[in-house]
Formats: sequence, structure tokens, C-alpha cells
Amino acid sequence: MTLPPTISDFERAAADALEPGPRAYYFGGAGAELTLRDNPEAWGRIAIRPRVLVDVSACDPRTTVLGREHPHPIFVAPTAFHRLAHGDGEEATARGAAAAQALYCLSSLATSNPVAVAQAAPGGRRWFQLYVFRDRAVSDALLAAAVEHGYEAIVVTVDLPVWGVRERELRSGYAIDAAQLAPHLYPGDLALTDVGTLIDPSLTWADVERFAAGSRLPVLVKGVLTGRDAVLAAEHGAAGVVVSNHGGRQLDTVRSGADALPEVVEAAGDRLDVLVDGGIRRGTDVLKALALGARAVMVGRPVVWGLAVGGEDGVRAVLDLLRAEFEVALALAGVPRAADLDGAAVEPAPWAGGVPFRA
Ligand SMILES: Cc1cc2nc3c(=O)[nH]c(=O)nc-3n(C[C@H](O)[C@H](O)[C@H](O)COP(=O)(O)O)c2cc1C
Repeated sequence: MTLPPTISDFERAAADALEPGPRAYYFGGAGAELTLRDNPEAWGRIAIRPRVLVDVSACDPRTTVLGREHPHPIFVAPTAFHRLAHGDGEEATARGAAAAQALYCLSSLATSNPVAVAQAAPGGRRWFQLYVFRDRAVSDALLAAAVEHGYEAIVVTVDLPVWGVRERELRSGYAIDAAQLAPHLYPGDLALTDVGTLIDPSLTWADVERFAAGSRLPVLVKGVLTGRDAVLAAEHGAAGVVVSNHGGRQLDTVRSGADALPEVVEAAGDRLDVLVDGGIRRGTDVLKALALGARAVMVGRPVVWGLAVGGEDGVRAVLDLLRAEFEVALALAGVPRAADLDGAAVEPAPWAGGVPFRA
């Protein structure tokens, strides 16, 4: 099978391959989808300041996150229900990510359980994304399985106390067969818009602190968009944060990860490792994120496009494309070692009005 040559070709091919319901689920955002559209555009408002005549014959894309080295900084974001995109589901995603040497963060709302995913790609690196369900026994069982099966960190997602108002999902009227897709989560059919009712909306920082204190694994808080919340994450025992607006699917008109990143990095200081997601579509986006202080990026929809179009091979191809582009960006920016990227490599783009990163 010939796979598309670029990420945007994967996007088009996935749109063609998916049925209307899953397409609405994977492609849509909240409200008027202003944040959804702004996520990729915000990376385009940052310009690169390249250096020349630097020896770039050997590029080194490695990064260190939570004290552990990774071959490159492109991680797979947690996205739900992979069997809606491809029959091989999360197992295929795990194998594709492992082949691309990319860390895979498995969603709580997966259509496979954490044990099966670990066994599908034993050599892969993985984190587990935790939704805290109203039925705490479900979350506890998922956590215990993750701890036992080689997941290296727990990512607690905090920007979905309730489901966002997603118009494409509402219009599609799509109901997933949850009994078939996720028997460990819920016994019966469930409209997409009702999945959120499984999640506990009363979660607070005290819960994060309890998880951090009680877990053998480091805890990251995903869904932070302000410096104040980054400080609270550090104070409550988190080891890191993921700057994220959930791919524009939750509160429309919040700012992009790219725009929120500098404030969060500054507030985090050296107390937290900061990751970012939302709209990462090119290697240059990855370079900009690291220059602004992120240790790694997470990629959501493009991985799902890869899965929908080509299963395991598609996931690998998308991640390999991003990594190859990132290495080209390092060479052309004259910063061959990813670990050497800093704020000197970027500036507010003149074509975007040159608005400073920090107001
Ligand atoms: C279809 C879909 C499902 C998602 N499911 C989850 C999830 O289960 N848990 C979670 O923490 N984030 C979830 N997210 C958010 C992603 O982890 C990530 O923040 C977002 O996709 C990044 O933006 P991008 O899609 O532009 O790369 C989901 C996103 C999408 C598009």
C-alpha cells in the first residue's frame, strides 16, 4: 500500500476513509471551532531565527523528559476510541509508535485495555492518561494495570470535567457501541456526547496531590493553559504539565498551546517538565515548541489520520515524517542538537504583527 507523502495528504486521505460519525468525532472541535483553527495557525505566528555556517552534518534530536532520555521529542497524545479509526485499534497505534521510537500515551477511553496495549508493543515506551471516572473503581483498576505493565508516567487530564459543546458530534448523532468497544469502561450503548458523564466533574488539586503522593509513577497534569495553574501543579506534587487545550475540543476561544507555552514555562521554572500539544503538524512546529521551553510535544489528530489510512504502518509513517522534518528544521536553523534549542532561535513573526510572547 502506498502511503501519503505528507501529513496534510494523510489528513485528506483520513477524511475520505472515515465514516461520517467517526469523522465528526476525530476532526471536530468545540463551539465555533476558533481555538481548533488557531492551534496550528499559532505556530505559524512564530518565526525562526536561523544561524548559518554551523556544522550540521550530525543532527541529534534527543530530549530528556522526567529524567529519562528519548530518541526524539515527538510523543503520541492520548486520543480515544482508536477502533473507530481502524480495526486494529490501540494495539496498532502502539506498534506504529514503537517502530517510530515515539512514546505513546494511551487514553483511559481506549478501545483496548492497558495490558493488551503493553503486550502489543513490548519494546515501546508508554505513559497512561487518566480520566478520573465517577466510578473510582474503574480508574483505580486502569491505574493499577498501567503501573504493573511498564507505563512510565500517569498523565491526569484536567480539562474535561464536562464534555465540550461539539457541534459536529451533535449533528452526527453518532452513538458508539461502547459495549463492544470498551467493555472495561461501560456496559452498553453510549452517545458520544454522553461519554463525558462517566467522568467525575468534582476533581480538584487535592485529588492530584493524592495521586502524586500515592503513585509509584510521576504524575503530569494535562490541560494547563496558565502560569498560575502551573505553579499549583508544582505545589501539588506534579512532575510535569502538558500545555493543552484538548485540541480545541473543550472550551472554544481559549488560547493555543503555542501562545500559552511561554507563560507556563516561566512559571514552571525548573520545578516541572513542560510539554505542549495542539496543532503540531510540521517539524518546524516541534522546533519552535522546544525553543520556547517545551521538552517534548504531543501529537493528536495526525496520528489518528495515520491509523485511519494505514493502520500501524500509517502511524509509523506520520511520526517518521514529523521526525524527519524536525531533523531538517534543526539543520536549517543551525542548531544541530535539539537540547541546545532556546529562545534565541525564535521570535514573534513580523507577518503576525510581531506581538511579544509575553504581554
Ligand atoms: C479524537 C480525539 C480524542 C481525544 N481523546 C483524548 C483523551 O481520551 N484523553 C485526553 O487527555 N485527550 C484527548 N484528546 C486531546 C489530545 O490528547 C490532544 O490534546 C490534542 O489532540 C492535541 O491537538 P492536535 O489534535 O491538534 O494534535 C483527544 C483529541 C482528539 C482529536
